[in-house]
Amino acid sequence: MTPVPESRQECEDCGQSISELDLSPACPHCGGLLEMVHPRPGHPTMLRRMFAERRTEVRGPDTSGVWRYRELVLPSIDATAIVSHPEGNTPLLSRDAISRWAGIERLLIKHEGHNPTGSFKDRGMTVAITQARRAGARAVACASTGNTSASLAAYAAQAGMPAFVFVPSGNVALGKLAQTLAYGARTLLVRGNFDACLALLRESAAGLGVQLLNSINPFRLEGQKTIAIELLDQLSWEPPDWIVLPAGNLGNTSAIGKGLREAHAMGLITRLPRLAAVQASGAAPFARSFRDGFVERFRVEPETVATAIRIGDPASWKRAVRVIRETDGVVIDVSDDAILEAKAVIDAAGVGCEPASAASVAGAAQLRHKGVIKSGESVVAILTGHLLKDPGAIVHYHQDTEPPPPRANRPIEIEATLADVERVLRVSS
Ligand code: F0G
Repeated sequence: MTPVPESRQECEDCGQSISELDLSPACPHCGGLLEMVHPRPGHPTMLRRMFAERRTEVRGPDTSGVWRYRELVLPSIDATAIVSHPEGNTPLLSRDAISRWAGIERLLIKHEGHNPTGSFKDRGMTVAITQARRAGARAVACASTGNTSASLAAYAAQAGMPAFVFVPSGNVALGKLAQTLAYGARTLLVRGNFDACLALLRESAAGLGVQLLNSINPFRLEGQKTIAIELLDQLSWEPPDWIVLPAGNLGNTSAIGKGLREAHAMGLITRLPRLAAVQASGAAPFARSFRDGFVERFRVEPETVATAIRIGDPASWKRAVRVIRETDGVVIDVSDDAILEAKAVIDAAGVGCEPASAASVAGAAQLRHKGVIKSGESVVAILTGHLLKDPGAIVHYHQDTEPPPPRANRPIEIEATLADVERVLRVSS
């Protein structure tokens, strides 16, 4: 058998290539971010047929919505070396109540909260952990607003690798912190925001002998780009007009853009969807820069109810600029009130998501309202995380916010008497 040709890591700044097994966290020559470049995988018709055939498998890597596309993700990997839960295979949902609220008839929701640890991070983590173990890393680490840490903790546990996470003290949603602790990662509550956590980790990673698995790690992006590949596959390779997603550190914007770029270049699709990246207004340096034509890079002191995207100095900035330009994309911001209202609509439709995820639907509604998304255009909004990730935000919205928001579902405390039950049910029926 002829060996599968290896991929390489290439510096986005100076173009220098390094081996795919090199553990450097950045370009050893200039410090730029690295990106994976793969050998051409074959004819699109053959690829589409192969991906479709793999759907019927019930065991092994083909059951993963990441590794089913392994020729596009990490072609040289030996199937027995893969650390998979499995992940992906997330549904594309259509719900009238959400479409109506957003004013978009052809709105589909890709729900990444259906991944094993409840967020899209598992798609990147299965690849990053697989590769870290394969390349001989002894321990892994990340800075996180909570979802990456939960995912890293779970996959490191499965791989039998020690894991260290740096998270902003007091600003990680309860579900995510609980997962991270339960899966056994050594958890450092840093007195600072996400940006401080990432800076601290980048400074200390080499000295500590840990492999950094934030989304600046190119293997993370290879996994995450399968959000785009899988959704195109689900749509029979007929791209939507728009893909809308929440944006924080900009790894996912970069990953989905890379997936679309490559799918287009290899002939799997014949046109590119437009990408809309949506930030929370209190953490929107990228949206601000977009309005100025990306002339300047901004850093802000982030504040938002959507703690997952409470990021003021996104690491994958340059990659994301390229993606927005290539896809004729847009970057907008939405207020915390808009995020919470969209979330209440998504939740009450029986779908549910965490606050940051709802930024995608809030953003799609804003774009439709402003006429950027045109009547009749098809839109896929990515919900990035599960409703149970942030139970605190839900209880606060429904039970504690004064005055009650219009969509609040106030719980009612009663005495344990029939009279109280009758009184309450009579009132609310
Ligand atoms: N949605 C959710 C639920 C997230 O957890 C994140 C990022 C994003 C959207 C934004 O993705 O950063 O690639 O632009 N969470 C990271 C974390 C930062 O540590 O879990 P991005």
